[in-house]
Amino acid sequence: MKKSFPLSKVYGLLEPGPVVLVTTAQKGRSNVMTLSWLTMMDFMPPQVGMVISDRNYSFAALKATKQCVINIPTVELAAKVVSVGNSSGRRIDKFSAFGLTPRPARFVAPPLIDECYASLECRVTDAHMAKRYNFFVLKVLKAWVDPTRKQPRTLHHLGKGRFVVDGRIITLPSRKK
Ligand SMILES: Cc1cc2nc3c(=O)[nH]c(=O)nc-3n(C[C@H](O)[C@H](O)[C@H](O)COP(=O)(O)O)c2cc1C
Repeated sequence: MKKSFPLSKVYGLLEPGPVVLVTTAQKGRSNVMTLSWLTMMDFMPPQVGMVISDRNYSFAALKATKQCVINIPTVELAAKVVSVGNSSGRRIDKFSAFGLTPRPARFVAPPLIDECYASLECRVTDAHMAKRYNFFVLKVLKAWVDPTRKQPRTLHHLGKGRFVVDGRIITLPSRKK
């Protein structure tokens, strides 16, 4: 039998994912934040929606420059992902503080993170809902993936420092076009 569940914990049930590291750049300085509130919105061109609190330093940079890179870390980077998410670029350089290596992107100013298994160069296409919901719609301009990583195990946030780590992959019949 199910019991009443606090609304404040619902986000953990829906388990968005994977947890990503979003890089931004403004006035020649790059920053990185941890983010788990993101959603796919379209296949081609790929569109992604994400929520960035306006209390975060990254919010203003994304709003002003309309560029970011969504970097996808795997479980090996879990401790760094949490450290990045518990500090602000207002005060420190998180790349050097947490040993993350920035690499130039092709189409945007924010860097790719070398240690992450995939990186998506993005441009903001709609920021109308940023004022009310802190919600940005992004188009993926360019995607990079490390082909040597056959089974990357990504992180999914359940709240309060708890994560699900991707495990076994199962393949089921899927509708052909
Ligand atoms: C696992 C995890 C997930 C997070 N998800 C989000 C998120 O989806 N949106 C958000 O605004 N902040 C999120 N945060 C908090 C930001 O990462 C945190 O406030 C960060 O330090 C902001 O950095 P900045 O001030 O340099 O932009 C998350 C933190 C952690 C640890």
